[in-house]
Amino acid sequence: PQEKSELKARIKRLLVEKQAVLVAHYYVDADLQDLAEETGGCVSDSLEMARFGRDHPAQTLVVAGVKFMGETSKILSPHKRVLMPDLDATCSLDLGCPADEFSAFCDAHPDRTVVVYANTSAAVKARADWMVTSSIGLDIVAHLHAQGKKILWAPDKHLGGYIQKKTGADMLLWQGSCLVHDEFKGIELELLRKQHPGAKVLVHPESPQDVVDQADVVGSTSQLIAAAQMLDAEEFIVATDNGILHKMRMAAPGKRFIDAPTAGNSATCKSCAHCPWMAMNGLQNLADVLESGSNEIHVEAETSRKAVICIDRMLDFAA
Ligand code: 13P
Ligand code: SF4
Repeated sequence: PQEKSELKARIKRLLVEKQAVLVAHYYVDADLQDLAEETGGCVSDSLEMARFGRDHPAQTLVVAGVKFMGETSKILSPHKRVLMPDLDATCSLDLGCPADEFSAFCDAHPDRTVVVYANTSAAVKARADWMVTSSIGLDIVAHLHAQGKKILWAPDKHLGGYIQKKTGADMLLWQGSCLVHDEFKGIELELLRKQHPGAKVLVHPESPQDVVDQADVVGSTSQLIAAAQMLDAEEFIVATDNGILHKMRMAAPGKRFIDAPTAGNSATCKSCAHCPWMAMNGLQNLADVLESGSNEIHVEAETSRKAVICIDRMLDFAA
């Protein structure tokens, strides 16, 4: 394998040569995030990744993240080539919501507006009325609730429960969860807060309710980074994938960030909260796919045609 610096130089050269742009999520390796920024790509939350890929003129998008992010980019830009460093990088929410079972669930509740989280397959999105990301789910459900709509929500039960509590909407919840965020522990967080009484608590809404209840700010990855920058505090306890800490430290130099406790981390493991699928993205496989053009994302045309409707609804709402 090549040295890190050689790999980075090779990736930069290949991005220019192949007229490609790198679109990365905050949970991937810090080197990939930096490369995305240094080369005119983007590193952001899943809403912005979708928008950036759609609006960028490059005809090849390299998505460093997980499968649903690549699929959403492809659905929004069917004529672009979308590559991913590892096509096996999936998401426990996506895995926990198979399209056939989800479709049967929808069939059983035809009176409900179907709202799905971005972290789902293209086939699940094809069955939905709306797609949302964590940054805009609350606003969209509040909007639907104001219109008197009853909601069928999938797949994340924690995010769904949080939105239900905040909006008072009638929501029937699929019982999925994120294997990373599900591990944060409310009782241990209470203890940690006692040791750091001045710390502000930043929580991604895929976390369990007893963790979300202790948050100063609940939001998407981008919203949590903005909060770390803006809030007047020296210390922050962060309940989300620890890949985010790279950007948080850059955005808020001088502030201190502490991982929220998970079942395994307190004394023994400093990096328990890290998505195994996001971790599949590395410099080597990124360079290799750029070179070979392999690992292209394909979405079946009819599925894509249906799925784009719920994604466009969200993007129009967000505009
Ligand atoms: P964001 O949209 O907040 O970046 O979240 C995506 C995700 O997969 C969180 O686990
Ligand atoms: Fe999915 Fe959780 Fe990984 Fe995000 S962190 S991609 S929700 S498994």
